[in-house]
Amino acid sequence: MRQAESLLDRMIERLLTQRACLQEAARLIAPLPGPVVELGLGKARTYDHLRRLLPQRQVLAFDREMHAPPAHVADDIALYLGDFRESLPPAVARWRGEVALLHADIGSYDRERDRLLVRDIVALLDALMRAGGVVVADREMRRPRWRRLPLPPSAGDWRYYLYQVGDGAK
Ligand SMILES: C[S@@+](CC[C@H](N)C(=O)[O-])C[C@H]1O[C@@H](n2cnc3c(N)ncnc32)[C@H](O)[C@@H]1O
Repeated sequence: MRQAESLLDRMIERLLTQRACLQEAARLIAPLPGPVVELGLGKARTYDHLRRLLPQRQVLAFDREMHAPPAHVADDIALYLGDFRESLPPAVARWRGEVALLHADIGSYDRERDRLLVRDIVALLDALMRAGGVVVADREMRRPRWRRLPLPPSAGDWRYYLYQVGDGAK
């Protein structure tokens, strides 16, 4: 019988998956211009990774509040604080159709809360994205012009979502 996975095992699978998906997304957006969005700055683990993967790109970071250690974020970080429902509209006004890569790391233990959050913000996220851009997300998101891609083989055993944005209607 397979031994039940511990919380540590599951965290390792999650982190392996995030790293593999961000790497794949960075490869896919190589020909495109545009900034990166980190939705859910948290402790800045994946933000820091994205900055190292894509040092030439601006990374826009969103969170309800700042809980990242200041040493782990850029001095001139482009930070959008507040609930995503309020912080995304001004970002759309500035960056509509320009974002090349969006990483949405927004999940909680409350799946229904997460479902309602995605319902409220997914059109705003789509409005940020340029055609050909890539969305990496920890929750399922559906838009007519987003096509789901398989996760890279190096991803761990963890549910994650990779989408490529097409030219179609937002
Ligand atoms: C899973 S953590 C992000 C972890 C981060 N990417 C990292 O690698 O350290 C999710 C983050 O999303 C933020 N968040 C969740 N729902 C939000 C909302 N509705 N508005 C703003 N921030 C939210 C939380 O405050 C939390 O910091």
